[in-house]
Amino acid sequence: MCNNQANMVLLGEVFPNFEAETTEGPIKFHDWLGGSWGILFSHPADFTPVCTTELGAAAQLAPEFAKRGVKMIAVSCDPVQSHKDWIKDIEAYNHLAGAFPYPIIADEERRLAVQLGMLDSDERTAEGLCLTARAVFVVGPDNRLKLSILYPATTGRNFHEILRAIDSLQLTAQKKVATPVNWKAGDKCMVLPSISEDDAKKLFPAGVEVHEVPSGKKYIRTTPQPQ
Ligand code: BEZ
Repeated sequence: MCNNQANMVLLGEVFPNFEAETTEGPIKFHDWLGGSWGILFSHPADFTPVCTTELGAAAQLAPEFAKRGVKMIAVSCDPVQSHKDWIKDIEAYNHLAGAFPYPIIADEERRLAVQLGMLDSDERTAEGLCLTARAVFVVGPDNRLKLSILYPATTGRNFHEILRAIDSLQLTAQKKVATPVNWKAGDKCMVLPSISEDDAKKLFPAGVEVHEVPSGKKYIRTTPQPQ
């Protein structure tokens, strides 16, 4: 068993305002966010191959996160100096140029890993400790958790999918739509079931299409992505 807390943060709750050491100095999470969107992504350990590809991909996509106003921060259960040494490998392996674009938290005591429920009983270090899984937390400008995913150490994430999900989160935070399967920015959206027919006409002047289905229920309504 790993010491995951039962009261880990849930969607819609305020994300913990933890303090931590990072490769760019100490932070207090909410101050670091400063009212922006943010993404925190965890890694099992420094100097591991899948993590090296993930941190490189995240660095390559940093301009895309910046375009969306999303601050990035990674976490791994190793000391700051280890992170700094590892960054040189990440830069070399992924052919990165310029300053490394985001800080890495040093969660040496595994406090965050426990607090955020990121430990995986199936994956162990050589010493038998539970590894930190590959968690992603997207936090909104209100400091509340908007999305979380958790992959095991052996499965690398798709950072393009994370950007796609952020596009949906940011759209649906503003407009009364939901995004369907495999949606990408610019595609048609679903009108929320809670919106009446009259309100839908007013809210979506570009048009609402009601899709006929055998039940006769008019719940599948699409509209061009509202601007
Ligand atoms: C990796 O990053 O390659 C990795 C780390 C821990 C377990 C399995 C893979």
